[in-house]
Order: sequence, then structure tokens, then C-alpha cells
Amino acid sequence: MWLGIDIGTGGSRALLVDERGVVRAGCTAPHEDMTMARPLWAEQRPQNWWDAAVSAIRQALAAAGVSGSQVKGIGLSGQMHGLVILDRDGNVIRPSLIWCDQRSQPQVDAVNAKLGREAILRYIANPVLTGFTLPKLLWVRDHEPENFARVRQVLLPKDYVRFRLTGDYATEVSDASGTALFDVVNRRWSMEMMDGLGLDRAILPRCYESNEVTGVVSAEAAALTGLAAGTPVVGGGGDQASSAVGNGIVEPGIVSCTIGTSGVVFAHMEQVAYDPAGRVHTFCHAVPGKWHVMGVTQGAGLSLQWLRNQLAPGTSYDALTAEAAQAPRGANGLFWLPYLMGERTPHLDATARGGWIGLTAGHKRADLIRAVIEGVSYSLCDCLEIVESLGVPLASVRASGGGAQSPFWRGLLASIFNKRVVTLETQEGSAYGAALLALAGTGAYASVPEVCRAVIRETESVAPVEADAAFYAKAHRVYQAFYPALKPLYGQIAELG
Ligand code: XUL
Repeated sequence: MWLGIDIGTGGSRALLVDERGVVRAGCTAPHEDMTMARPLWAEQRPQNWWDAAVSAIRQALAAAGVSGSQVKGIGLSGQMHGLVILDRDGNVIRPSLIWCDQRSQPQVDAVNAKLGREAILRYIANPVLTGFTLPKLLWVRDHEPENFARVRQVLLPKDYVRFRLTGDYATEVSDASGTALFDVVNRRWSMEMMDGLGLDRAILPRCYESNEVTGVVSAEAAALTGLAAGTPVVGGGGDQASSAVGNGIVEPGIVSCTIGTSGVVFAHMEQVAYDPAGRVHTFCHAVPGKWHVMGVTQGAGLSLQWLRNQLAPGTSYDALTAEAAQAPRGANGLFWLPYLMGERTPHLDATARGGWIGLTAGHKRADLIRAVIEGVSYSLCDCLEIVESLGVPLASVRASGGGAQSPFWRGLLASIFNKRVVTLETQEGSAYGAALLALAGTGAYASVPEVCRAVIRETESVAPVEADAAFYAKAHRVYQAFYPALKPLYGQIAELG
């Protein structure tokens, strides 16, 4: 048996699979809601992730009826970009600024001014963005110098859980790529970035390839989780790279679209290539020696979650999408801008704000919901178009994540993308990918692509509806015109609160 653990935003999931990749049990323990002390700030407590991971692991072992000693390997996956800072005794210094926290624009500007945008692109193959780890660390330096002075180790969310599980400070290339401190082309920490900013190299953990063993479960963690001491733990991956492994996006030609809290369009790359405008991320893949490109919509599932919590509390997502399906395509001329946490692809703008545009007194709640689902899908289509423009071949899209569980949403995606949208037999995303990485690193398979070829099977496939595709192509152009029109106002909105 192999165990994948995903430290998500909403919860931590533990998933047990056998040597054929068949899921034997999966359990999720929820996290506390993220704390948002100010608009666009977002924090979580690392201890909460660890407690949730322990609980999920115990539940999964019990549900599968297996003992810890039957688990031969463990893989970790997790929300990317979060900043976890530890003192010299391994204690967490302050809550984590997580991936969607957008407070660090002044720090991004300062890094650009100091090192120069072009040099940065050469060092890390990406621009520095507010969501990435580095500017969050610099925010702590600028605003909480007493905390910064105590920093001895910087970890990513899943690697904090690794530390609690094994006692080791370690990460792997895919998650390290999202720190803005990693030389993505050469797959090592960027000393140009660290030295250029006067940061101490010693605060960075050791970095591995994703299927390499980074350590073993400690006796203390074994007692807490029910796992056996000495069980190997492989690097694993950032949630997107892991999810891509779980979706078999480990060879050229297939692209995935994952709709979780954020939404991601992800493609494998044999050779490293990056968007000169930095609108999509070029990161190391969880496949050794390979890369990937991905576009990110910040507020994907988050948009629907927000709508539900505010306007339809207690309603299930199935009921919401069923209601949306009652509205006509285009939601009677209503649009949704999904910029609830600023936006990454294609705008790279932390100040962008969301909203409905086109409301009339005639609109019903069904229109509001449909517009949200369509707006998120247009944003994902923007991601897809940029990925395609980098020359990535693309015949079909594999859909995964919570949003893709809805047949209605999958159908919409097919028409809006004007591509065939395919689903897979196992829809376990990141936790599944983490388990497969453990299988590749400690099991009977020679490589990550070999595991994927052996265990991943496509099931359903939805084709675009021609008339809908033509309609959405037009509506998408209208959607794309809103951001440039509103951009001059976002700064003024921010000044007002
Ligand atoms: C990827 C990203 C999200 C987070 C949270 O760049 O920010 O996928 O990892 O899921």
C-alpha cells in the first residue's frame, strides 16, 4: 500500500492506493478557514495542517483496514507558495501567509528595482509575483523585523508536514519553483536571487527531485499517525504538479484543467520555455528532468464557494449547478469577473477586483450562478490560449478537481474551450499524484510516466456543442474587454478599502 497526503487549502487528504494504483481508502480532515485580517490577506496555521494530516492519515488507515507497517512509501503534495518560517528550535514563528495572500506588492516592486525584471526572468524563468514565497518573506522582514530575525528555516506548506513527519528540512523541485528563489532551468536554488537580496542561503531546505526519498517517518510521528517508523517519504510535488501526475499529464500532448479553490490549466514540457510576459508559470515538473507550464485563475472554485456562502448558504454544489443549468447560455447577458483574490493569468494584477457586470432587474439567482461558472471558465480559457500560444500541442483537456465533478460545468468547459473535455477513472487529483510519486519512488515502477501509463484510464469524454462554442467565442471577447476597461479604477478602489 502507498500513501498520498495532500495539504490543501480547505483540508488535508490522505489516500491509500495499492500497487496497481487502485484507491483503497481516502479521508479528508478539514482545515480552519483562512484568516483574512484585511482584504487580500490570507493566513493559516501550520499546526492546523499537521493536526489535520494526522487525523486524515489515521482515518484512512482505519478505513482501509491496514496497519502502518503495510504502507511501503509516502508522497506529499500541497498548496504551493505559502511561507512557513521556523526558529532555530523548529518552532513556527508566525502563521503562514498562504498562496492567495496578496499583500506583498511593495516587496515585489523592491525586488524588481533591485535585481531588474530581465535578470530575474533569467534567474528563475518567471517574474516575481505577490503570491510567491519570496515577497512574503520580505514582507515579514519589512513589517515584523523581530520575527524575521528569528528565521532559521523557510518551508512550503507540505514541507512543514514533511518536517513533522520525518524531522527533515527538505523540499522538491516542483514546489520550490513557486518560491521565486529557484533556478527552474537548472533545478537548484538560485544563489543569484538569495545573494542579490542579501538573504542567508542556510534558511533554504535541501531540494530533491519529486520521486526521490527525502527521509523516513520518525518514531514520534509514527506514534501519532499509526504509520510505521522508518517508512520512506518521497519528495512529492506542489498540488498542481502532483495533480498533473494524478491526471497523467507527464508526456506532451495532453493538458489538464483543474478546478479547485484556484483553477489551473497545466501542460507538460520536454524542454523549458517561458512566456516573456510571465503570464503563465514555467516550473519544474514532478517528472525528473521535465518542466511544465501553467496558467492560474485565482478565484475559480472560490467564486462559487463565495457565492454559495453569501447568497445560498447550506446549498449543495450539485443544487447550485442544477439551478445554473436552468438559465440560458450567456446568463441573459450577465458576466462574472472572478478576481476575488486579484488575478494571475493573464493579468498578473493583485489589485483586480471581481463582480457581476450586466445586471438588470430581470436577472434571477440562476443567472448569477451561471454567470459565475461561465466567468471562471472564460478565465481558464484565457490560460489555455496562452499555453497553446507557447506551441504546446493540445487535442483534449483532462478535467479534474471539485468543479469538474459537475457534468454541467464539464459541458460548458468543452464549448468554451472548443475542445474535447475528458474525465478519468480516478478523480483524486493531488493526493493521488502524491501516492503515484511514492509508487514511482519506492515501488515496482521504473519512472513516473511508467506508473501513469499503467494506472490512469480515461472514461467519459464531452465534445463541444458547435452552436454554443460559437456563442461563447463571442461572449469571451466581451469578457476580455472588461479588465482593461476597469483596470484604471482598481487602484482607486483599493484606496477606499
Ligand atoms: C498554484 C497555486 C495554487 C495553490 C493552491 O500556483 O497557487 O494551485 O497551490 O491550490
